[in-house]
Amino acid sequence: MRLGIFGTGYAGLVTSVGLAQLGHTVTAIDKNPDIIARLSDGVPTIHEPGLKELLTSNLDAGRLSFTTKAADAMGESQIVFVCVGTPPRADGRADLSQVEEVACTIAPMLDGYKLIVEKSTVPARTAYWIDSTIRRLAGPEREFDIASNPEFLREGTAVRDFLHPDRIVIGADSGRARSLLLDLYQSSFSCPIIVTSVTTAELIKQAANAFLATKISFINMVSDVCEKLDVDVAAVAKGIGLDPRIGGDFLRAGLGFGGSCLPKDVSALIKVAEHSGVDVGMLKEVERINTARIDRLLAKIERALWVLPNKVIGVLGVAFKSDTDDIRGAPSLGVIPRLHSMGARLHVYDPAAVRNFERLYPPNDRLTYVASVYDAAREADALVILTDWDEFRSLDFGRIRDAMHTPIVVDGRNLFEPPLMQAAGFEYYSLGRGDATLHQKPFRERV
Ligand code: UGA
Repeated sequence: MRLGIFGTGYAGLVTSVGLAQLGHTVTAIDKNPDIIARLSDGVPTIHEPGLKELLTSNLDAGRLSFTTKAADAMGESQIVFVCVGTPPRADGRADLSQVEEVACTIAPMLDGYKLIVEKSTVPARTAYWIDSTIRRLAGPEREFDIASNPEFLREGTAVRDFLHPDRIVIGADSGRARSLLLDLYQSSFSCPIIVTSVTTAELIKQAANAFLATKISFINMVSDVCEKLDVDVAAVAKGIGLDPRIGGDFLRAGLGFGGSCLPKDVSALIKVAEHSGVDVGMLKEVERINTARIDRLLAKIERALWVLPNKVIGVLGVAFKSDTDDIRGAPSLGVIPRLHSMGARLHVYDPAAVRNFERLYPPNDRLTYVASVYDAAREADALVILTDWDEFRSLDFGRIRDAMHTPIVVDGRNLFEPPLMQAAGFEYYSLGRGDATLHQKPFRERV
């Protein structure tokens, strides 16, 4: 099939490359000529494992092209995907101006039937507004349908998630839209394909992300109880997660959920529900627990270091999760500026995301960006871990301990076993487990 994709952000780019990989001819559009030039040269604009290989091979095969001109993609495409950003507004609602702009661009270009598919995460009933906008501008005689086909891609594993989905959701209100999308996917995937109404599909996406966020806040709440009882939250998570009704995923306690999706979708669902008069106190609590994770980590850092001004802190990780250079909604955005304002001297390291962070927080006399974990550890009074990069799990801890001024690790991601860190000579603080301090008795002996 010939397909057009509006937007080359995370969802748009991975969808473009993935659909080309399935054998379709894909034209992706972005307003930014620099992005289009880079992608046309086979240079990914985001850090995503496996993306570069598929980008270059599909460009070479002639199945994938990038353009700034919407008309290039509209002309021959049977299906047009809307993958533009829907960032949060100050009031917590999703900002749908880019979606509206695509609808306005598409409307005058319609000549013959087209299926327009929402892939961006949008509040329920957005399809209705896209439909009304296009009808107002294009006139009632134009033939088109709006469908919803939400993506469930995770940053860091998005290419794999696209090529091996656990389910595909098709929200379509007409037979023609339904069969076009079934044709697109049925021959390539053997996973369950769920066919629903458009609004149901929109809500499935928001509810899925809100549920994942709820699981994380739940385990973080349990983690606070674990800490008081001197119990390891990872053992509790394992013990409950083996029950298939609960499931073990998304039960990693730590700094809470960040990124561009879970926080935004929880708050957008709260707004949609409140607008409909539905009590969503539970989701508000999910948000509250999540926000409090940053304070909890900062309290641990203060407890470990006592006085912060001029203390040297090596910060490991600014990305919101591993295997991405994305810092949107990252805990680092809450932790680093606060440590800086408390007077600490910060040496920050991340394997991929420093450039994005540096744009927001340029280096200064108390904030420097370093090239390795070992540089971050040099003369440090403490190391603070904010991202669960694999690289951090296999470090030479003897070398790190010897490089530090005082061997203190405050781990916001629970990457290590407390007794092992203590045996390696560290005072080790984490979330939801007993803190292994060198010179104090363990909690159990103190009570
Ligand atoms: C999320 C969903 O997982 C995807 O299914 C969805 O397609 C995507 O949003 C989207 O709407 O586009 P993503 O934001 O890439 O994907 O990242 P997740 O893997 O969901 O992680 C979100 C946050 O939760 C991260 O900050 C992560 O560190 C945190 N997390 C995750 C935990 O704190 N504990 C866990 O057990 C799992």
